[in-house]
Amino acid sequence: MIQVENVDLAYPGGPVVLRGLNFRLAAGSFHFLTGKSGAGKTTLLRALYLDHRPESGAIRMFGEDIATLPHEALPALRRRIGVVFQDFRLLDHLTVAQNVGLPLTVAGIDADKRDRNVAELLDWVGLGDKAGTYPPRLSGGEKQQVAIARAVIGNPSILLADEPTGNVDAEIGGRLMWLLAQLNRQGTTTLIATHDQTLLRDYATQAGVLHLDGKGGVVQQPIMSAHLSATVS
Ligand SMILES: Nc1ncnc2c1ncn2[C@@H]1O[C@H](COP(=O)(O)OP(=O)(O)O)[C@@H](O)[C@H]1O
Ligand SMILES: [Mg+2]
Repeated sequence: MIQVENVDLAYPGGPVVLRGLNFRLAAGSFHFLTGKSGAGKTTLLRALYLDHRPESGAIRMFGEDIATLPHEALPALRRRIGVVFQDFRLLDHLTVAQNVGLPLTVAGIDADKRDRNVAELLDWVGLGDKAGTYPPRLSGGEKQQVAIARAVIGNPSILLADEPTGNVDAEIGGRLMWLLAQLNRQGTTTLIATHDQTLLRDYATQAGVLHLDGKGGVVQQPIMSAHLSATVS
């Protein structure tokens, strides 16, 4: 599903941040992405979201080498990838419901169906009463929940999440993890950047770990079982 071969990643004019990356994530697998602050977690997730192309090497998503894809083909590929950005990237002039429904709006889903799905998901994540609220009036944790809801609403084949439980308390974090686990059970290949040791401990036997060693490299630890099975605590 995701194949990374001898990939170097750098920012324009800057040094190489990640060097000679090699790993494969099988379809339907669940991995954490770990490494100390500055190790390159966000940089790697951005590359997998096709936000920036590698300096060298190949990234294959859904079997397609993204370097050889024409730019026009990227939006369609991106629609199959759900992403939770570390800084949320919500649109402040749209309501919570409009933000969450955006992937469905862009995909041309029927408005009634979209609104039903959005309402159901917002109720589920506990944000039903915030549907008409604009993001500047939300707490950090609420914004994070909205960002996760927007990432999962379109039932993506791949889910990339950058520190998705970083701003929420343990109870909400548990619910959000449960939601991500449900999605993974339905087959979504999942990669979650985190340095939350509790999360890593709780899911250690069910998830694989990609560890960025801070020197540009990556160490992959195998998954103990194929799918994540989380329970609500
Ligand atoms: N937009 C950018 N331009 C140049 N360098 C960047 C940019 N974003 C991050 N970096 C650098 O890339 C390295 C990895 O950063 P990042 O991927 O954000 O790490 P992490 O998410 O693991 O904390 C850091 O040295 C950081 O300074
Ligand atoms: Mg980061």
